[in-house]
Amino acid sequence: MHTGRVEPALCTARIMTPPIASPVEDSRSTEQRVGSLLGRMTLAEKIGQMSQRDASHGYPPDYLGEGLRAGHIGSILNQVDVAVVNELQRIAVEESRLGIPLLVGRDVIHGFRTVMPIPLGQAATWNPELVREGAQVAAREAASAGVNWTFAPMMDISRDPRWGRVAESFGEDAFLASKLAAAMVEGFQGDDLSAIGAIASCAKHFAGYGAVEGGRDYATTNIPEHELRNVHLRPFKAAVDAGVLSLMTSFSDLNGVPGTGNDFLLRQILRNEWQFDGLVVSDWDSVRQLAVHGLTANDRESALAAVLAGVDMEMAGDAYTNHLARLVDEGQVSVDTIDAAVANILRAKFRLGLFDKPYTAPSDLPPVASEHALATARKAAVQSVVMLKHEHGVLPLSAGKPGSVAVIGPLADAPYEQLGTWIFDGDPGISVTPLAAIRAFAGPQTEVRYVRAMENSRSRASESFDEAASIARDSDVALLFLGEESILSGEAHCRADISLPGDQAELVRRVREAGKPVIAVILAGRPLTLTNIVDQVDAILFAWHPGTMAGPAIADLLFGVESPSGRLPATFPRMVGQIPIYYNQKNTGKPPSPDQIVHIDDIDTHAPQTSFGMTSFHLDAGCTPLFPFGHGLSYTQFDYQNIRTSSNEVRLGETVTISAELTNRGDIAADEVAQLYIRDLAGSVTRPVRELKGFRRLRLQPGETVAVEFRLHTSDLAFYGRDMRLITEPGEFHAWIGGSSETGLRTQFAIIRDE
Ligand code: NOJ
Repeated sequence: MHTGRVEPALCTARIMTPPIASPVEDSRSTEQRVGSLLGRMTLAEKIGQMSQRDASHGYPPDYLGEGLRAGHIGSILNQVDVAVVNELQRIAVEESRLGIPLLVGRDVIHGFRTVMPIPLGQAATWNPELVREGAQVAAREAASAGVNWTFAPMMDISRDPRWGRVAESFGEDAFLASKLAAAMVEGFQGDDLSAIGAIASCAKHFAGYGAVEGGRDYATTNIPEHELRNVHLRPFKAAVDAGVLSLMTSFSDLNGVPGTGNDFLLRQILRNEWQFDGLVVSDWDSVRQLAVHGLTANDRESALAAVLAGVDMEMAGDAYTNHLARLVDEGQVSVDTIDAAVANILRAKFRLGLFDKPYTAPSDLPPVASEHALATARKAAVQSVVMLKHEHGVLPLSAGKPGSVAVIGPLADAPYEQLGTWIFDGDPGISVTPLAAIRAFAGPQTEVRYVRAMENSRSRASESFDEAASIARDSDVALLFLGEESILSGEAHCRADISLPGDQAELVRRVREAGKPVIAVILAGRPLTLTNIVDQVDAILFAWHPGTMAGPAIADLLFGVESPSGRLPATFPRMVGQIPIYYNQKNTGKPPSPDQIVHIDDIDTHAPQTSFGMTSFHLDAGCTPLFPFGHGLSYTQFDYQNIRTSSNEVRLGETVTISAELTNRGDIAADEVAQLYIRDLAGSVTRPVRELKGFRRLRLQPGETVAVEFRLHTSDLAFYGRDMRLITEPGEFHAWIGGSSETGLRTQFAIIRDE
């Protein structure tokens, strides 16, 4: 019995072992290789391929060894000791009858050792290229631990910031999420999936999970089919088009059928309509949970429902292992169904090149936390920060000059918390905190005073508030590091009240009273309701959970090395009761109108009810969010002018160009995210008041003017109508180019039929 780890020398020797496939086999097509292998497999070996086992319980892997030798395990997850992974691969490849290598899965969600901003923060960069680079860094680091399959990206559209997993999402918009999902897939998988450093990606959770009722994780979803297709499925289609190797089913119940048993999603849409030939994996034990949902009566029925629905591999459960063989013997599941599932799994393994290169040699890969990795993490963090508010010119701070700064708050020096959710492998030891970076940046002439003030973000003990107020009073400026620690967002970490937790609002009030400029830097895993503090502070930098390089990135922004350029990927409500509130809502028959709002405090009890304007709004919250989708301020002023279209009339099948001039009116170089929105004025099903159709991050020098051009093919304006066919309908369109979903210059054009 092994009692220790595999020695590195032994590991190297293993890596030298010749691959199991012969050169003759190599030259054949993947489909031939899949077919030939399938033809040699027993039913038990096939079911083995369909089973994924948790391998997190250290070494020796006795409980796995037997299963691997018998060919009863197709994949493992949660083992990142490369020596152990290589040993497990060796058993599968050298000691099982057919020598089929393992898929080695891990949640590499926003970085591995080097942690990038949470996905919602990455979405705030509106920079697909940077998201791609971040995923490539993560892929290389994870690959060096033997991981060849990440369960990312999550692309569930979420319009509910109460949901803890909004942190893992790209936000509320299907267009933005589609672009970023595709970029992340490309980053993980690279141009050649079999290349060293590329890992398979997994689009999850199919589908609709982000719409859980009440923002409560795992809850029910009810999504009409056109909404499902027009919104929730779009990022998945983009990921499939980008070549994603796998998809994961959703835990949630969609219109009465949980994702893992949902044949409409998995067969009708994914396989028939999209022709996906990759691998579908369940979520953790979600096959057996079909019975908990009440879709099935027991594990056997759950295995039947999942396999018939099209789930190829069961993650971390044993319903397939225990019941599939019998279901086949009884004729309830055909061998063809099993073969199709196994073919999807083998195809994925061939595409990854695992048959030819099953082992990992970390020395083939760059070291983790390399200079490049840290620079990418810093750049992503810089671009993710959204300046929500800025008054009285309090920013940027000047570095290197005599002065003093008060740094206050539970998240100023919290190396673990700044990393955010899903950081199984993130290393807080390499985190650079805002406090450390500010001290380094400010230089010896600036005195930096620090009071943590609260043990954590939820704390209700206010004993240190006096001290916090006192250092604020004694300093030129107060920097408050507020928000949520990482455990307050992520899977099963939902909140019904999304304001700043604990006594943070009171801390803000006390620091405000010191009479110095107050800048709030907020680190959080979701949009928060900031209504009770927004007027108490001069500036707000919303930094999400920025990752390893939070400190240098925030210091770059505070001291003006960089201008804030993040833009909101999700609407910030004024209060929870407004949820769901998102920019591309429908108009309704009585659209909200800001000038017809009556506030609850101003109601004249004797006036007729019609004095309320009879439009769609809340008496206590109005009709607008606190900060809209796409919003984000800069240290410079951007000015849009001269919007035009290439033509007022566009024939179906043709392209229209919408352009405007963008000028940087300030005296520093900065990035702007130019956004194109359209509105389809009348449709066979009603269309949203605005839809994002293009965006571009542009760097402009002081005084520079550039032309911003977006080309739209009429197919870009297609949607699923009443009969669930994708169609572009002729008619009138409005188009805006501007800096958020609430601003912009407007033009219009019409789509006409090709007579
Ligand atoms: C459950 C989560 O829903 C999923 O996103 C994750 O990939 C798996 N667990 C594996 O950890």
